[in-house]
Amino acid sequence: MTRHAKPENTFDALVIGAGAAGLFYGARAGEAGLRVLVIDHAAKPAEKVRISGGGRCNFTNIHTRPENFISANPHFAKSALARFSPQDFLDQLARHNISWHEKTLGQLFCDGRSGMIIDMLLSELHGTGGQLRLATSVSEVAKTDDGFRVTTSAGVFEAARLVMASGGLSIPKMGATGFAYDVARQFGHQIIEPRPALVPFVFEGREKADFASISGVACDVTARNERAAFEEAMLFTHRGLSGPAILQISSYWEAGEAVTINLLAGLDAVAALTAFKAGHPRKSLATAMETLLPNRLVALLLERGDIPAVPRLADMSHSAIEDLVGHLSGWSVKPAGTEGWRTAEVTAGGVDTGGLSSKTMESRLVPGLYFIGECVDVTGWLGGYNFQWAWASAYAAARG
Ligand code: FDA
Repeated sequence: MTRHAKPENTFDALVIGAGAAGLFYGARAGEAGLRVLVIDHAAKPAEKVRISGGGRCNFTNIHTRPENFISANPHFAKSALARFSPQDFLDQLARHNISWHEKTLGQLFCDGRSGMIIDMLLSELHGTGGQLRLATSVSEVAKTDDGFRVTTSAGVFEAARLVMASGGLSIPKMGATGFAYDVARQFGHQIIEPRPALVPFVFEGREKADFASISGVACDVTARNERAAFEEAMLFTHRGLSGPAILQISSYWEAGEAVTINLLAGLDAVAALTAFKAGHPRKSLATAMETLLPNRLVALLLERGDIPAVPRLADMSHSAIEDLVGHLSGWSVKPAGTEGWRTAEVTAGGVDTGGLSSKTMESRLVPGLYFIGECVDVTGWLGGYNFQWAWASAYAAARG
């Protein structure tokens, strides 16, 4: 027997997922006059906002462009990103007296704790009459004649619109599920295979032991493959390689591929070594390299044979210097894999944008069904882009 929702359990929009996208949608739809209920199985809302940006939430990036996003359809994000810009979010923060600063590369962080963003999202949701039910699990989603029926541990709810905002698969320990993909498939949508992105690389054998031996050492590099290149910091870890440059290139990495690391990024290393040789012909190459790279990394590169043992620079020819710089600029490593869902900052892939309107995020197959935020096959670079997508896609769905 079909259970129908009580009148007080009937809304204009039901949102599944009280994360960045779901809460922002709730407030924007509420402003537009919709009665909204946001449901989440977690006990607390927007936990990823809380832990993001080291507790200060890198909530947007002022350089946001469609090119900063990965999707099977690189054009899909354009419309939503154009309609809700980083400045629009800053205007929102100003209304709530939330101060912020730019850290680097256009990345904007709260001056205070990221909880301030969550408080803002909640006060806007409640201020526009929106309701929130936490610790509520959803067992069934069904289509009705005039909308959707959602059966939950807190009863049956109905609404004309169903907005899937339950995120991707990264960090299952925090309650991530593939529920949005299940609902998408249920209604005939395609899924682009989800994969961990913005995730550290792991290595095996000699490389794992080598990198672990200098765990904690960082240097500026360019990490590249055939599809992308990022000049940022790299960090050696107990399991392999991490740091922004590695996280960024991981989103473009395919299993089995090598990654090329320029260990001398941003340096004119041939000129620097040539000048050092002229000034200190009796010093070793290792000493010269220590002016360019961290000492522990130089020691490891010597041990691995990536830097030759040259006791006196006077004995090193100019072409040998050029060869060395060429080698260290194109240092090739082959990850055994990634740390996977356990530590991936985001999920690449997701609900195929081919089935969605780029203007409204509404399903082309089932009117009234929407997908927003990370569950959609739009994945941002590291640096505030993923939250900007959450805000922009939510805004498009609420105001479309
Ligand atoms: P999000 O994952 O935020 O929310 C989904 C919600 O749905 C959750 O509350 C979850 O409990 C709920 N849910 C899941 N399954 C459900 C189910 N079956 N039933 C009911 N509810 C369900 N990005 C950025 O731009 N700047 C940054 O600084 C960072 N930092 C960062 C750090 C770390 C450690 C991580 C893991 C991620 C980031 N990110 C980030 C990425 C960013 O957090 C992410 O892209 C957004 O939170 C996505 O927002 P959504 O609302 O789409 O999903």
